[in-house]
Amino acid sequence: MTDQTTLSFASKNAAADGVAVVFAEEGGKLTPSAQDLDKKTKGLLSKAAQITQFKGKKGSKVDLLAPQGVKFARVILMGTGKASAFTQDDWRNLGGTVRALLTGTEGANANVYLETVKGDPKPADVASFALGAKLRGYSFKKYKTETGKKAAKKPAEKTLKKLIVHCADPRAAGQAFGPNRAIVDGVNLARDLVNEPANVLGPAEFAQRAKALTKAGVQVEVLSEAALKKKGMGALLAVGQGSARPSHVVVMQWKGAGPRGGAPIAIVGKGVTFDTGGISLKPAGGMEDMKGDMAGAACVVGLMQALAERKAKVNAVGVIGVTENMPGGNATRPGDVVKAMSGRTIEVLNTDAEGRMVLADCLWYAQDRFKPKAVINLATLTGAVMVALGKEHAGLFSNNDQLSERLTAAGKETGEKLWRLPLGPKYDKLVDSKVADIKNTGGRWGGSISAAQFLQRFIKEGTPWAHLDIAGTAMAAGDTEINRSWGSGFGVRLLDQLIKDHYERR
Ligand code: BES
Ligand code: MN
Ligand code: ZN
Repeated sequence: MTDQTTLSFASKNAAADGVAVVFAEEGGKLTPSAQDLDKKTKGLLSKAAQITQFKGKKGSKVDLLAPQGVKFARVILMGTGKASAFTQDDWRNLGGTVRALLTGTEGANANVYLETVKGDPKPADVASFALGAKLRGYSFKKYKTETGKKAAKKPAEKTLKKLIVHCADPRAAGQAFGPNRAIVDGVNLARDLVNEPANVLGPAEFAQRAKALTKAGVQVEVLSEAALKKKGMGALLAVGQGSARPSHVVVMQWKGAGPRGGAPIAIVGKGVTFDTGGISLKPAGGMEDMKGDMAGAACVVGLMQALAERKAKVNAVGVIGVTENMPGGNATRPGDVVKAMSGRTIEVLNTDAEGRMVLADCLWYAQDRFKPKAVINLATLTGAVMVALGKEHAGLFSNNDQLSERLTAAGKETGEKLWRLPLGPKYDKLVDSKVADIKNTGGRWGGSISAAQFLQRFIKEGTPWAHLDIAGTAMAAGDTEINRSWGSGFGVRLLDQLIKDHYERR
């Protein structure tokens, strides 16, 4: 659930109680607000720092409980290392680290005095700090009941009510944070969708959650299975035909740049609400993770909501294919040949290589209908991308150097990092089929690349296109300072940044 704590910005001398967080840098040098608290507590803070050999190192802290001379029930002195050299990533991470310390047990309010030794951070830095704090505040507790035996014995959990960031220019900080509220909501929506189990979130339920974006001003169409048949989306339908639940395509349009904004940017997502592998059944161990095989689609929904909520001056269209890959009497068999919307025939060698089939039709549909100025797709497409890049970078494939560089730069800015992998004619040959136009697996080596080559066969000549393989980064990506959720919401901040930098009308 999204963080229930309300965030506000205030001046440094505003009345405050509860818990205070102040900072120290390299060598244990206190910021002005920390010095002030030190004075008011008659040197308690610096004494405690000395006793614990606190040197202001990043991540280290001094914790004072019930100090005399101040209204605070607790004062935390956080080390930041060299805050004057902080990047936006560092400010975000600091926000996450601080947020994790604030449990609400000291009172309803937490007060953070955001300063460096050299002076006040810029409003953008304060906004990044707050973004990190809000993202860290997320947790998925929907299925933890109060009546659970263990919970009944425990006292009701305290939660933090108010997070107040005290800074030099609270108005400017609030303004700089404005769009970040939309981004937090978008990321948390994506996380909620990825975390939701597949019994609750099938294709129809997913489509309904996307439909709710109507409220934010997004035009949403949910295409029925009959409509997909009519359009000839045989690749996508082949994936869902073993499931009792019908497949859908959802189209989301945000026209923030108006008619003069020209052609939209299209974002396409893989939305396999559960991937059993189909007849090419996956092994049991770890299969539960495949509830997150719709993380690409979740990112598209989260992004579209964020764009609408922050009223981005961009024309953007989101297209997602939502379907469930199940074995069954009607399921696609290995060896089957199906026809994609583009007219190409696909030999299905492995029903577990289903994501590329879903995307084949969604990519084609998006280009055919919207003539977009660029297409970016996101998918938890291959296990192989984790073998190549681990969980630190998502795989980036593109037919366009400029788009690729822009995405890489947005990745560095947001901390949602990308690493470009190659495409080329030799790799393309790997997906040639003996019986059809193309086959859905390219063999053992370079599995992420042959998957990307498959997708590229459904990209029209001249369309700038990028494929992000987010299998390693969108779920179970490991703990970070700003994320402790299994579903990370990867991609929302990345693409929001790309759009802000290059696709918005000024
Ligand atoms: N959804 C999986 C990829 C995946 C695996 C994502 C693990 C996240 C964690 C995808 O549909 C898949 O099964 N890919 C196969 C392709 C193979 C059959 C060519 C894979 O990666 O093994
Ligand atoms: Mn699969
Ligand atoms: Zn899959």
